[in-house]
Amino acid sequence: MKNIVVLVSGGGTNLQALIDAQNDGKIQNGKISCVISSNPEAYALERARNNGIDTAVIRRRDYENQKEYDKALVELLKTKNADLIVLAGFMTILGEYVIQSFRNKIINIHPSLIPSFCGEGFYGLRVHEQALKKGVKVTGATVHFVNEICDGGAIILQKAVEVHNGDTPEILQKRVMQEAEWKILPLAVSLFCDEKIIINENNITEIHK
Ligand code: GAR
Repeated sequence: MKNIVVLVSGGGTNLQALIDAQNDGKIQNGKISCVISSNPEAYALERARNNGIDTAVIRRRDYENQKEYDKALVELLKTKNADLIVLAGFMTILGEYVIQSFRNKIINIHPSLIPSFCGEGFYGLRVHEQALKKGVKVTGATVHFVNEICDGGAIILQKAVEVHNGDTPEILQKRVMQEAEWKILPLAVSLFCDEKIIINENNITEIHK
């Protein structure tokens, strides 16, 4: 059974999708053991508490520099015995030390079809604003491993979502969450816990469903 630690910053609808999947028996070989937030006010913490899941808060601004923050976060993740770290709407940049300490054990959900609308500055609603500005007709979501390149790690799962006439960033965000994020994130977590994701020498994943 793998210990899953979920990192959050906000509303936590992706965390809720993971909790629901766990309660529905869709994550057979893993258990969410802790939710760590970068923001003490995050509603995601409430969702964790409502489900009896251990919580912790760690804020970047409480540390002098990235190195100190990274050290504290790695220590916390080690005390929680994390086998899998899921970034579910986590808005703090992780430094190299965190990534190296948990190589190929950190996954992230991003609200576009990578490599479109990703990288530094592309997060949350901004991603959908840019997709609408460009006039793309299809967008979606991506689950990927986290490496040193922002949104550049090996892709695990993607799902496309149609853009409709008259969409606002908020409407599009909701559709991408409902039709893609809340489905592919729990599926990727389940595949990881079942050890069905292989990363080959070219840093490309092969999924053994
Ligand atoms: C989600 O749309 C997630 O994909 C996005 O933030 C939102 C968090 O919502 N993440 C990023 O943009 C990361 N670059 P949630 O707190 O309701 O899960």
